[in-house]
Amino acid sequence: MSKLRLFQALAVVCILSLAALAHAAPIVIKFSHVVAEDTPKGQMAVKLKQCVDAKLAGKVQLEVFPSSQLFDDDKVLSAMLLGDVQLAAPALSKFEKYTTVLQIYDLPFLFKDMKAVDTFQQGPEGQAMLKSMEDKGLIGLGYIHNGLKQMGANKPLRVPADAKGQKFRIMTSDVLAAQFDAVNAIPLKKPFSEVFTLLQTKAIDGQENTWSNMYTQKMHEVQDYITETNHGLLDYMLVTSAEFWNGLPADVRTELEACIKEAIAYGNKVSDEKDIDDKKKIADSGRTQIITITPEERQQWVEAMKPVWAKFAPSIGQKNIDAAVAANK
Ligand code: SIN
Repeated sequence: MSKLRLFQALAVVCILSLAALAHAAPIVIKFSHVVAEDTPKGQMAVKLKQCVDAKLAGKVQLEVFPSSQLFDDDKVLSAMLLGDVQLAAPALSKFEKYTTVLQIYDLPFLFKDMKAVDTFQQGPEGQAMLKSMEDKGLIGLGYIHNGLKQMGANKPLRVPADAKGQKFRIMTSDVLAAQFDAVNAIPLKKPFSEVFTLLQTKAIDGQENTWSNMYTQKMHEVQDYITETNHGLLDYMLVTSAEFWNGLPADVRTELEACIKEAIAYGNKVSDEKDIDDKKKIADSGRTQIITITPEERQQWVEAMKPVWAKFAPSIGQKNIDAAVAANK
């Protein structure tokens, strides 16, 4: 082949490669979650999509699947490891199969408010927990707030004795099971998508969740009382698979990190607002009665549930618990 011919052939290959690159299909990122769009996590996901559409147009296509449309939380992490979904943000209670350090977030009455939660999550122990599942192929990209949990039931719950024998739906967490065992109640691990029907059909007597989740799932319409206990946390970890994340082009990863930061900040602002607004909407609906307990009644719950801390300290690490307690100061 003459030099000219060789040069022409190379030029054609280059042009074809460039054209192929120019038309390369965008990277598809599926983000699956279980809550409604009008929730802190739902709004965080919407914001993330807006940012990705604006900053990574043509390079990344983010598809959000709310309300368990794609996966329930019991399936989403195994699906992620198979490459069927790239982003998810299960509640921190739902990672027990992959790590036990996150059990800390389910310890009853651990954090006094969301500021303390934030202090712990942004501190060294909380940040290290984002990396706690890397050996299982999962990377934590950040925490998303929802808020503190309240307890709902068809009877007024004022003191721990009121919960005796009552069936409570819980997330898939042994800590939450121990929490309800501690007050002689019956914990049942069930998917979020089933809670409304379980309450409606009286297959369960009660449940625990945030104001936002109760309101958006209409749980207040199918249970007579909600006790304002603020006894536990419902937050999320945004996770991805290490294989997917490490395989992204560096510039795409950097842009995505910036979008995630922006979206989480927005979602956390929404969570603060919804905690107040959705409680008010539930109260205004007149469909359920909100019970405010006295500090003495609350103290009874604290004492009844406190043994759960010692039970899980070995799997969580006492150093982590101490750091969380210190975050309340
Ligand atoms: C969620 O907020 O993602 C669901 C929490 C639950 O399962 O109760």
